[in-house]
Amino acid sequence: MREQIVILDFGSQYTQVIARRVREGNVYSQILCYNTPARELAKLKPRGLILSGGPASVYAAGAPLPDRRIFDLGVPILGICYGVQAFAQFLGGRVEKGRKREYGKGTLTVKDPACALFQNLPAKLQVWNSHGDKLTKLPRHFKPVAVTENSEYAAIENRARKFFGLQFHPEVVHTPRGREIIANFVHRICGCGRQWTMRNYIDQAVEQIRAQVGKERVILGLSGGVDSSVAAALLHKAVGEQLTCIFVNNGVLRGREAEVVREVFGRHFKLKLQYENTSKLFLQRLKGVTDPERKRKIIGRTFIEVFTAATRRAGKAKFLAQGTLYPDVIESVPIAGNPAAMIKSHHNVGGLPRKMKFQLVEPLKCLFKDEVRQLGLELGLPREIVLRQPFPGPGLAVRILGEVTPERLRILRNADTIVVNEMKSSGWYYKIWQSFAVLLPVRSVGVMGDERTYDYTIAIRAVESQDGMTADWVKLPYALLEKLASRIINEVKGVNRCVFDITSKPPGTIEWE
Ligand code: XMP
Repeated sequence: MREQIVILDFGSQYTQVIARRVREGNVYSQILCYNTPARELAKLKPRGLILSGGPASVYAAGAPLPDRRIFDLGVPILGICYGVQAFAQFLGGRVEKGRKREYGKGTLTVKDPACALFQNLPAKLQVWNSHGDKLTKLPRHFKPVAVTENSEYAAIENRARKFFGLQFHPEVVHTPRGREIIANFVHRICGCGRQWTMRNYIDQAVEQIRAQVGKERVILGLSGGVDSSVAAALLHKAVGEQLTCIFVNNGVLRGREAEVVREVFGRHFKLKLQYENTSKLFLQRLKGVTDPERKRKIIGRTFIEVFTAATRRAGKAKFLAQGTLYPDVIESVPIAGNPAAMIKSHHNVGGLPRKMKFQLVEPLKCLFKDEVRQLGLELGLPREIVLRQPFPGPGLAVRILGEVTPERLRILRNADTIVVNEMKSSGWYYKIWQSFAVLLPVRSVGVMGDERTYDYTIAIRAVESQDGMTADWVKLPYALLEKLASRIINEVKGVNRCVFDITSKPPGTIEWE
C-alpha cells in the first residue's frame, strides 16, 4: 500500500494547501472528511494524520469533531489551528474565545529546540495566524514548545505519543518556513520516505489502467488543454492502440491550436486521433446570437452532439477517459461559513450525458494541477502544452462580445497570438494564471497615416489567481503593455485601439462574458 498521510478536513480554506505541501515533500496525502471513522482510517495504514483548521468553534453546538478513537490509532497527529482545539476537546484542555482575534503575521519563538517539528529551523520564525478561539489550558501530557506575542501555546507537543499542535498556519506562504515544519512532521516524525514522485506514479498508474481496462477500448475527448493532454499521453502509454482520442474543432479555437494537437498527438505520439472539423456547424449555429449564456449553451450542446456521433464512428468502446483532477473529487465539508462549500464553480463542463453508456477511466483523479504538469513533462509532452494557461471550453466565443463572426474571429485570433507570444517571450506567461485578448464590438475613431479609421477595440486581460475563484489584475510593465498595444494596432487589421483591463475578481470575472 502507498505510504501516506491522511488529512482530516474541518472545513479550512487551506486544507488542499496542506495536502499539496505534504506532496511537495514526495509523500502521498489524501483529504478525508473530519468524521471519517477511525476503523476506516486504520485500513489505509496512514503514517500520520493532520487535522486541518476550520471556521467553527469547537464548543459551538454541532461543531465538527473527529472520531475520538483516532487518538488510539498509534500514529503521529498534527493539529493545525482548529485541529489543536480538537485535541483540547478530547484530551482535556480548554479553548476559550480569545479577547481579540489573532489574525495576520506574528513571530514565533521556539522555546524547546528539541521538538522534532522545529529541527533545522531558527529559534525565531515568521508565522501566519488566523483564529478567534484560543487554547487557554493545555491538554493532559502536553508541553508548550513555542510561543507568539499573543499565545503561550502557539506550538505544543506530547512527545511520547507524537501528538503536535500549532495555533498558526504552517501551510500558507505567509509562514515562509512552514514547508519545513510540515516536512519535519512528515519525514522525521512520521518516518515517511520520498516515494511519491511523478516518475513513480507513471508506473503505478499504467498498471492500474491496464488492470481496469483489460483488452477493451477507450475513448478520450482531447481538448488540447493540460488535463486531457496529460491523460491522453498516460493512457497511450498504458494501452496504446486501444485508445482513440477525439478532438473537436468547434470553430472558436485559438490560432494553431488544432495544428499543435495534430502535430503532437498524431505525428509525435502516433496515437489514434480522430479529428472532427466541425467549425462550420458551430459557427452556423452561433450566427446572430449575442447573449453570452446562449452562446455557451449552443456550444455545449453542439459539442455533445458532435462528440456523441464521433464516438459511434470511433467504434465500440467500453471506457470513456476523463482528465478529472483531485480538487474536483474532494467533497467539501458542509460547515456553515466554509467558503469552499458555498462558492460553486459555475462552469465545469459538467461532463457528457449519462446515457452514454461508458465506464469512466480517470487516471488523474488523485493529482493536483502542478502534479499533472509534472507528469506531462515526465511523459514527454512539450512545454507548450504542459505549461498552458487555462482556456474556457466555449473558447474565443466568450472573448468576442456580441455576435461571433468569421471576421471578428480572425481579428481576435491574430491579437491573441500576439498577446500569447509576447507574454511567452517576456516570461510573464508562465508566472501568471491567464493572459489574453478580448474583442469589443464597438468602433472608435483613429488615424493611421493620413487616413481616418473607424475600427474595433482590443482589451488586454492579465490576471493572477490560485484557482480562478478570485483573481487580481497583473501589473505588467509599461514597456510590455506598450509593445502589445503597438503590435496589435499595427499588425491586426480592423483594430485601432487597445485598452488594459484593471478589474479584479470579485467584483469582475476573469472572462468578459
Ligand atoms: P470567470 O470568467 O468566471 O472564469 O471568472 C474563471 C475561470 O474559468 C474559466 N472559464 C470557463 N471554463 N468553460 C470553461 O471550461 C466556461 O464556460 C468558462 N468560463 C470561464 C476562465 O477562463 C477562468 O479561468
